[in-house]
Amino acid sequence: MTGIDYSQKIPNNVDLAGDKRLQRALEAWQPNYLEWWNSMGPTDFNQKEIYLRTAISVDKDGWAHYGFVKMPDYRWGIFLNPAEPGRTIGFGDNYGQPVWQQVPGEYRNWLRRLIVTQADTEPASVEQQRLLGHTAPSLYDLRNLFQVNVEEGRHLWAMVYLLQTYFGRDGREEAEELLQRRSGNADHPRILGTFNEPCQDWLSFFCFTMFTDRDGKFQLLALAESAFDPLARTCRFMLTEEAHHMFVGQTGVGRVIERTCQVTQENPGRDVKSEGAIPFDLIQRYINYWASSSTDLYGAEVSSNSANFFSAGLKGRAYERRYEEHTALDQTYALERFLDGKLVPDVVPLRNAMNEVLRDEYVKDNQKGIEYWNRICEKYSSETHGVEFRFRLPHRRFNRRIGDYAAGRFDLDGAPLTEAQWEARVAEWLPTDADRAYVKSLMKPVTEPGKMASWIAPPPKGVNDTPIDYEYVRL
Ligand SMILES: [Fe+2]
Ligand SMILES: [Fe+2]
Repeated sequence: MTGIDYSQKIPNNVDLAGDKRLQRALEAWQPNYLEWWNSMGPTDFNQKEIYLRTAISVDKDGWAHYGFVKMPDYRWGIFLNPAEPGRTIGFGDNYGQPVWQQVPGEYRNWLRRLIVTQADTEPASVEQQRLLGHTAPSLYDLRNLFQVNVEEGRHLWAMVYLLQTYFGRDGREEAEELLQRRSGNADHPRILGTFNEPCQDWLSFFCFTMFTDRDGKFQLLALAESAFDPLARTCRFMLTEEAHHMFVGQTGVGRVIERTCQVTQENPGRDVKSEGAIPFDLIQRYINYWASSSTDLYGAEVSSNSANFFSAGLKGRAYERRYEEHTALDQTYALERFLDGKLVPDVVPLRNAMNEVLRDEYVKDNQKGIEYWNRICEKYSSETHGVEFRFRLPHRRFNRRIGDYAAGRFDLDGAPLTEAQWEARVAEWLPTDADRAYVKSLMKPVTEPGKMASWIAPPPKGVNDTPIDYEYVRL
């Protein structure tokens, strides 16, 4: 285990104590962070004891400690995966050269922008989710919400560490700004669109952790390849925590689906709403909404920024090692552009398509999640059970706000539509006011240990080998 000194204010494995200037900068930032947490983090639960895991090392088996803690006392620490001796740059123009331990002057602005953009999503999601604690469908889910929230807080710490350590005064200013932007605030919003969308019911929360945290996974995978070694090592450790967030989303939506399956089976021919479950088509509309919004997070299909980041070695492809060729020079990427109202096949230099390459991996991973949900439906789809519904992923062109396809309208299969055709069918595809009102009407807290709300099935097992009726939050 890499040494962690718990006697310090900020647990870490980066020898903070050995850098007094940095330690002072972070200790000065910490009260501002706590002030942000107390005003913008989960409302009203800060004095409750919650069964949380805390990162205490980067050991594969045993990196986390589970125990009861009040959220403001959570030990938000700084952990980097251990350095790989002799690591070399894995892609781009500097392929094969030693990785950087400092920020090269010529890439300083680009790197800062990449780090700030990633960093900004972390507090944003905590802000988006701050009211959800009041309507959790069970103590198990309430605990998972808070687990995600404190870890997003730690991810902010991880990024602020990089800004404060390697970017001097600019970095310190960025660290302050990260505590000042606000999700959904018209004057001072968070940087990326999805992170300004309201997330005020639990179906949205599960879709968010499924689709939006999964964008986080792929951004982290791409940054984990970075030639800037401290960034790569930070992101690798963040991925360890991120896996839980997607678990919450995938199994959360899965349990909602399972409950609807059960109700359908028990009440053939009746509207599942009569039993307080959520209709399949409504769940699908929420999926369509969050999947499409999160698909935007990869940016434009063809992008000179993405080419620059790749050439310079700042941001690679997810799983770069799986590729045979790592410069991406003299290679091309075929895609369909949407130009002057028409889909047109095009071939662009591969480096300019790096956003799309990352989005490809994301779409594939989302598809696996859909298949997992359909396996739940299949369990209930024999003649006697009668669940015929199957979920699908909307086409990447559907409902986009960024990139080529933002200029048009597309159906769930990606076929172009006129504005009138879109208007005529949008209520089939995206959540309607009535959908949102129905979901909202179900949002009543269930706080008895082991009990679940009417619209969600229990999880197959509890957290860290505890029973499902464990008192995860001491209210
Ligand atoms: Fe995160
Ligand atoms: Fe996350």
